[in-house]
Amino acid sequence: MTASTGGRDRLRTVMSELVTGICVVSTLVHGRPGEAEDAVVVNSFTSVSLDPPLVSLYLRQDSTFLNRLRRSGVWAASILGSGTAEVAKALSRPYGSRPPLAEVGAWHPGPETGCPVLDGSPATIECELYRCVELGDHVLVIGSVVGLDTTPAPPLVFHRGAYHAPFSDLPR
Ligand SMILES: Cc1cc2nc3c(=O)[nH]c(=O)nc-3n(C[C@H](O)[C@H](O)[C@H](O)COP(=O)(O)O)c2cc1C
Repeated sequence: MTASTGGRDRLRTVMSELVTGICVVSTLVHGRPGEAEDAVVVNSFTSVSLDPPLVSLYLRQDSTFLNRLRRSGVWAASILGSGTAEVAKALSRPYGSRPPLAEVGAWHPGPETGCPVLDGSPATIECELYRCVELGDHVLVIGSVVGLDTTPAPPLVFHRGAYHAPFSDLPR
């Protein structure tokens, strides 16, 4: 990065002005439902294409979770609701210090992939891995959508490094 942009910390600070949603992305550690699972918090999740239905997120190149996702070939995103900031805090810890999923919420297997989805999430999106594209120190992970579900609930949002629940008056 050039001196004119001020380095990675400056980019991180500037981008923290963008309000985003928060997702927990999960995968199957051995590629089989019910054996072992892992999940991390991301705010880079977005929709890519409607036809075919594609969604994406970015993960660090050296991420343990990325390795697991690549090996399993399936993943699920749970868009977090307003009351789940503690889930987000727990699942943003690095590999080795993340608690087991059962300790941080109630989960059920997504019907299409078996990947865990968080009970009561405003939306869940199940995917098969479509493509990975290496971009700088991150990898763009594109998923082909194979399952969708929604539950009326206000979302958790992220801004300037903190979680907020500004839409608690939304209909449930
Ligand atoms: C609000 C928030 C958003 C995050 N978004 C991302 C993201 O989009 N991509 C990413 O690689 N890590 C993101 N992280 C960090 C990961 O949650 C964390 O580094 C991850 O648990 C590391 O997993 P690993 O040790 O298996 O690599 C985010 C963390 C927080 C607190």
